[in-house]
Amino acid sequence: MRLPIRPNVLQMHPYVPGKPISEVQRELGLDRVVKLASNENPLGPSPMAMEAVRKVASEMHLYPDGAAYELRHAIAGNFEVGPEQVILGNGSDELIALLGEVFLSSPEDELLTGDPSFVRYDAAAQIAPATLVRVPLDPDCRFDLEALGERLSPRTRLVFIANPNNPTGTIVRRAELERFIDQLPEGCVLVLDEAYFEFAAADPEYPNSLDYLRKGLPVVGLRTFSKAYGLAGLRVGFGFAPAEIADAIERARSPFNVNALAQAAGVAALGDEEHLRRTLANNAQELPKLVGLLENAGAKVPASHANFAYADFGFQTRPVFDALLRRGVVVRLMPDPECLRISVGSAEEMEFFSVQFAAVMEALPQMANA
Ligand SMILES: Cc1ncc(COP(=O)(O)O)c(C=O)c1O
Repeated sequence: MRLPIRPNVLQMHPYVPGKPISEVQRELGLDRVVKLASNENPLGPSPMAMEAVRKVASEMHLYPDGAAYELRHAIAGNFEVGPEQVILGNGSDELIALLGEVFLSSPEDELLTGDPSFVRYDAAAQIAPATLVRVPLDPDCRFDLEALGERLSPRTRLVFIANPNNPTGTIVRRAELERFIDQLPEGCVLVLDEAYFEFAAADPEYPNSLDYLRKGLPVVGLRTFSKAYGLAGLRVGFGFAPAEIADAIERARSPFNVNALAQAAGVAALGDEEHLRRTLANNAQELPKLVGLLENAGAKVPASHANFAYADFGFQTRPVFDALLRRGVVVRLMPDPECLRISVGSAEEMEFFSVQFAAVMEALPQMANA
């Protein structure tokens, strides 16, 4: 059978997520598995969000509110933007794809981003198909805004900057970002993917997409309920865009892209300041410890402003990944085979990690000789 599947689609790779806990338990017969692979919230969801989901569960035979009125207005109120500037998606993943659909229509169009960065930007270009331009990060594993500026052209339609960046956790600072924004060509939109915003927000030099939106600049900010808000399983992302862009996304999206449980949970999670505070406190306490462990083991770790650390070991890390997995710790392999990305867990999970990691690193020379 020869089906007319578009060749650019066949060149794409399916997204490989972090291994789910249940899969590792099943395959390796383990009771205890700690997942430090997808930057989820180790404290779980907000109790207020769980209560909200319980309340709406009896109405799941009904379609959700297609306009997501309450969630849209809760976000608008919380972040002081107009409801017409709020965009909502089935995870911010969907918003990335929708931005591609709205702005990219041919290989003449370019999507500019960093390398390595979040792989779904690549997919947004490949599916169009548009031309993907990836600029290597600088030696500190940060987006290299000067090099990115040199690659801007009249064909650049979208620039994606993950801030903090996934997988490196590094940030771009306000002054350098503003110099870059000044160079954007006519008709080019800058997307600041702020999936880890809450973890970085306390840094005085960390820029906020909302400041640029309020100035009327062509900037879209993407946020998510999946990370600090602890709702990854419900799939709900949001963002802020100039009304004209939000309107285009509204036309392109599927009718009920944010389900009813996710809408209710999102409203409740936004109101649960205590849960967010605890989440940030846990991260502030555990991230430096994680970085310390990795650095003591000889890895290079760029300055992370997120809830994960990117460790460059300088040797092939697959054996470390496999050995950790057999001991019930799931971390994330990276396109660079000498690197791993490890999420911050709860204090108790990090204790477990530190014991397993020490054992793996100790056994490493024997593994290399085996
Ligand atoms: C930088 C970045 N953007 C977007 C996403 C997608 O998040 P979600 O679709 O869960 O909102 C992720 C998830 O890991 C991410 O790291």
